Amino acid sequence: MRTAIVYEGTHGSSAAVARIIAAEAAVHGPVIVGEVHEIPLTELEGVEFLVVGGPTHRWEDWADVTRTPTSAHVLRDYHLTPDGVRNWLDHLPPRPSFCAATFDTREPGLRVLTGTAALALYRALRRRGCHLVTRPASFLVKPGQVSELMDGERDRVSAWAVQVFRRAEHHHPVHIG
Ligand SMILES: Cc1cc2nc3c(=O)[nH]c(=O)nc-3n(C[C@H](O)[C@H](O)[C@H](O)COP(=O)(O)O)c2cc1C
Repeated sequence: MRTAIVYEGTHGSSAAVARIIAAEAAVHGPVIVGEVHEIPLTELEGVEFLVVGGPTHRWEDWADVTRTPTSAHVLRDYHLTPDGVRNWLDHLPPRPSFCAATFDTREPGLRVLTGTAALALYRALRRRGCHLVTRPASFLVKPGQVSELMDGERDRVSAWAVQVFRRAEHHHPVHIG
Protein backbone atom coordinates (compact mmCIF):
# COMPACT_ATOMS: atom_id res chain seq x y z
CA MET A 1 0.00 0.00 0.00
CA ARG A 2 1.48 3.32 -1.08
CA THR A 3 1.27 5.90 1.73
CA ALA A 4 1.82 9.65 1.98
CA ILE A 5 2.26 11.31 5.36
CA VAL A 6 1.94 15.07 5.26
CA TYR A 7 2.39 17.25 8.30
CA GLU A 8 2.76 20.78 9.44
CA GLY A 9 4.49 22.04 12.55
CA THR A 10 7.13 24.40 13.68
CA HIS A 11 8.72 22.77 16.69
CA GLY A 12 9.21 19.15 15.77
CA SER A 13 6.56 17.19 17.66
CA SER A 14 4.28 16.68 14.67
CA ALA A 15 7.33 15.76 12.60
CA ALA A 16 8.33 13.21 15.24
CA VAL A 17 4.84 11.69 15.15
CA ALA A 18 4.95 11.60 11.33
CA ARG A 19 8.28 9.76 11.39
CA ILE A 20 6.95 7.10 13.77
CA ILE A 21 3.93 6.59 11.54
CA ALA A 22 6.25 6.42 8.53
CA ALA A 23 8.17 3.54 10.13
CA GLU A 24 4.95 1.52 10.32
CA ALA A 25 3.93 2.64 6.80
CA ALA A 26 7.19 1.26 5.45
CA VAL A 27 6.15 -2.21 6.62
CA HIS A 28 3.16 -1.98 4.28
CA GLY A 29 4.75 -0.49 1.17
CA PRO A 30 6.36 2.63 -0.28
CA VAL A 31 5.99 5.79 1.79
CA ILE A 32 6.56 9.48 1.25
CA VAL A 33 6.69 11.70 4.30
CA GLY A 34 7.23 15.42 4.53
CA GLU A 35 6.13 18.84 5.57
CA VAL A 36 3.24 20.19 3.62
CA HIS A 37 5.42 22.40 1.40
CA GLU A 38 7.60 19.39 0.50
CA ILE A 39 4.74 17.31 -0.90
CA PRO A 40 3.13 18.81 -3.99
CA LEU A 41 -0.23 17.28 -4.84
CA THR A 42 1.31 15.66 -7.90
CA GLU A 43 3.25 13.42 -5.48
CA LEU A 44 -0.05 11.82 -4.49
CA GLU A 45 -0.22 9.98 -7.78
CA GLY A 46 -0.76 6.32 -6.91
CA VAL A 47 -1.15 6.97 -3.18
CA GLU A 48 -3.66 4.69 -1.49
CA PHE A 49 -3.47 6.00 2.06
CA LEU A 50 -2.97 9.59 3.18
CA VAL A 51 -2.15 10.58 6.76
CA VAL A 52 -2.36 14.29 7.59
CA GLY A 53 -1.40 15.98 10.85
CA GLY A 54 -0.10 19.01 12.65
CA PRO A 55 -0.18 20.98 15.87
CA THR A 56 -3.30 22.29 17.55
CA HIS A 57 -3.00 26.06 17.76
CA ARG A 58 -5.35 28.55 19.36
CA TRP A 59 -8.00 25.92 20.00
CA GLU A 60 -8.28 24.46 16.54
CA ASP A 61 -5.50 24.42 14.02
CA TRP A 62 -2.57 26.29 12.68
CA ALA A 63 -3.82 27.11 9.24
CA ASP A 64 -7.02 28.72 10.47
CA VAL A 65 -5.03 30.83 12.90
CA THR A 66 -2.59 32.06 10.30
CA ARG A 67 -5.50 33.11 8.13
CA THR A 68 -6.77 35.40 10.89
CA PRO A 69 -5.10 38.84 10.77
CA THR A 70 -5.91 39.60 14.42
CA SER A 71 -3.82 36.67 15.57
CA ALA A 72 -0.77 37.78 13.62
CA HIS A 73 0.71 39.63 16.58
CA VAL A 74 0.37 36.55 18.80
CA LEU A 75 2.24 34.50 16.28
CA ARG A 76 4.94 36.99 15.31
CA ASP A 77 7.60 35.00 17.09
CA TYR A 78 6.77 31.86 15.20
CA HIS A 79 7.87 30.83 11.78
CA LEU A 80 4.73 30.83 9.65
CA THR A 81 4.35 28.63 6.63
CA PRO A 82 2.52 30.52 3.88
CA ASP A 83 0.59 27.43 2.88
CA GLY A 84 -0.72 25.37 5.74
CA VAL A 85 -2.01 21.87 5.69
CA ARG A 86 -5.61 23.09 5.50
CA ASN A 87 -4.76 25.16 2.46
CA TRP A 88 -3.08 22.13 0.93
CA LEU A 89 -6.18 20.05 1.57
CA ASP A 90 -8.33 22.71 -0.10
CA HIS A 91 -6.55 21.79 -3.33
CA LEU A 92 -7.09 18.07 -3.13
CA PRO A 93 -9.16 16.79 -6.01
CA PRO A 94 -12.74 15.98 -4.95
CA ARG A 95 -13.45 12.34 -4.12
CA PRO A 96 -9.84 11.17 -4.21
CA SER A 97 -9.50 7.41 -4.35
CA PHE A 98 -7.35 7.05 -1.23
CA CYS A 99 -8.41 6.50 2.34
CA ALA A 100 -7.08 8.74 5.08
CA ALA A 101 -6.40 9.37 8.76
CA THR A 102 -5.60 12.49 10.75
CA PHE A 103 -3.60 13.32 13.86
CA ASP A 104 -2.60 16.35 15.82
CA THR A 105 -0.24 17.25 18.60
CA ARG A 106 -1.59 19.26 21.48
CA GLU A 107 -1.25 19.92 25.17
CA PRO A 108 -2.81 17.56 27.71
CA GLY A 109 -6.26 18.35 29.00
CA LEU A 110 -9.88 17.95 28.09
CA ARG A 111 -10.31 18.19 24.36
CA VAL A 112 -13.11 20.67 24.83
CA LEU A 113 -10.58 23.01 26.46
CA THR A 114 -7.50 22.38 24.32
CA GLY A 115 -9.21 22.01 20.94
CA THR A 116 -7.99 19.56 18.34
CA ALA A 117 -6.60 20.17 14.88
CA ALA A 118 -7.09 16.49 13.99
CA LEU A 119 -10.86 16.84 14.03
CA ALA A 120 -10.73 19.87 11.74
CA LEU A 121 -8.45 17.96 9.37
CA TYR A 122 -10.72 14.93 9.55
CA ARG A 123 -13.71 17.04 8.55
CA ALA A 124 -11.77 18.74 5.75
CA LEU A 125 -10.78 15.37 4.31
CA ARG A 126 -14.27 13.98 4.66
CA ARG A 127 -15.64 17.01 2.81
CA ARG A 128 -13.31 16.11 -0.05
CA GLY A 129 -14.81 12.60 -0.10
CA CYS A 130 -11.95 10.68 1.52
CA HIS A 131 -12.68 7.51 3.45
CA LEU A 132 -11.46 8.15 6.99
CA VAL A 133 -10.37 4.85 8.49
CA THR A 134 -10.14 5.93 12.12
CA ARG A 135 -11.14 8.67 14.53
CA PRO A 136 -8.91 11.75 14.67
CA ALA A 137 -6.00 11.09 17.04
CA SER A 138 -4.25 13.50 19.40
CA PHE A 139 -0.74 12.97 20.71
CA LEU A 140 0.29 15.01 23.70
CA VAL A 141 3.22 17.34 24.17
CA LYS A 142 4.66 18.56 27.42
CA PRO A 143 3.09 21.90 28.32
CA GLY A 144 5.39 24.90 28.02
CA GLN A 145 7.74 26.50 25.57
CA VAL A 146 9.66 23.45 24.42
CA SER A 147 7.70 21.18 22.13
CA GLU A 148 8.39 17.65 23.22
CA LEU A 149 6.14 14.59 23.18
CA MET A 150 5.09 13.46 26.65
CA ASP A 151 6.48 10.24 28.05
CA GLY A 152 4.74 7.22 26.55
CA GLU A 153 3.36 9.10 23.55
CA ARG A 154 5.82 7.60 21.10
CA ASP A 155 4.55 4.15 22.02
CA ARG A 156 0.99 5.37 21.67
CA VAL A 157 1.76 6.68 18.17
CA SER A 158 3.26 3.31 17.20
CA ALA A 159 0.23 1.42 18.50
CA TRP A 160 -2.10 3.83 16.71
CA ALA A 161 -0.18 3.39 13.47
CA VAL A 162 -0.38 -0.40 13.65
CA GLN A 163 -4.15 -0.24 14.11
CA VAL A 164 -4.62 2.40 11.43
CA PHE A 165 -2.67 0.54 8.76
CA ARG A 166 -4.60 -2.62 9.55
CA ARG A 167 -7.83 -0.71 9.00
CA ALA A 168 -6.53 1.01 5.86
CA GLU A 169 -5.60 -2.31 4.32
CA HIS A 170 -9.13 -3.53 4.90
CA HIS A 171 -10.56 -0.11 4.13
CA HIS A 172 -13.01 0.34 7.02
CA PRO A 173 -14.42 3.87 6.93
CA VAL A 174 -15.24 5.55 10.25
CA HIS A 175 -17.95 8.20 10.44
CA ILE A 176 -18.08 10.69 13.26
CA GLY A 177 -19.86 14.03 13.85
C1 LIG B 1 0.55 30.00 19.26
C2 LIG B 1 0.28 28.67 19.88
C3 LIG B 1 -1.03 28.32 20.21
C4 LIG B 1 -1.29 27.07 20.80
N1 LIG B 1 -2.59 26.76 21.10
C5 LIG B 1 -2.86 25.54 21.62
C6 LIG B 1 -4.21 25.16 21.88
O1 LIG B 1 -5.16 25.91 21.67
N2 LIG B 1 -4.44 23.92 22.38
C7 LIG B 1 -3.41 23.05 22.64
O2 LIG B 1 -3.68 21.94 23.11
N3 LIG B 1 -2.12 23.37 22.39
C8 LIG B 1 -1.83 24.59 21.88
N4 LIG B 1 -0.53 24.93 21.61
C9 LIG B 1 0.53 23.94 21.85
C10 LIG B 1 0.83 23.23 20.53
O3 LIG B 1 -0.25 22.40 20.17
C11 LIG B 1 2.11 22.42 20.63
O4 LIG B 1 3.15 23.32 20.87
C12 LIG B 1 2.29 21.68 19.32
O5 LIG B 1 1.65 20.46 19.43
C13 LIG B 1 3.70 21.56 18.90
O6 LIG B 1 3.70 20.96 17.63
P1 LIG B 1 4.96 21.10 16.65
O7 LIG B 1 6.16 20.76 17.49
O8 LIG B 1 4.70 20.12 15.58
O9 LIG B 1 4.98 22.51 16.16
C14 LIG B 1 -0.24 26.16 21.05
C15 LIG B 1 1.07 26.52 20.71
C16 LIG B 1 1.33 27.75 20.12
C17 LIG B 1 2.74 28.08 19.76
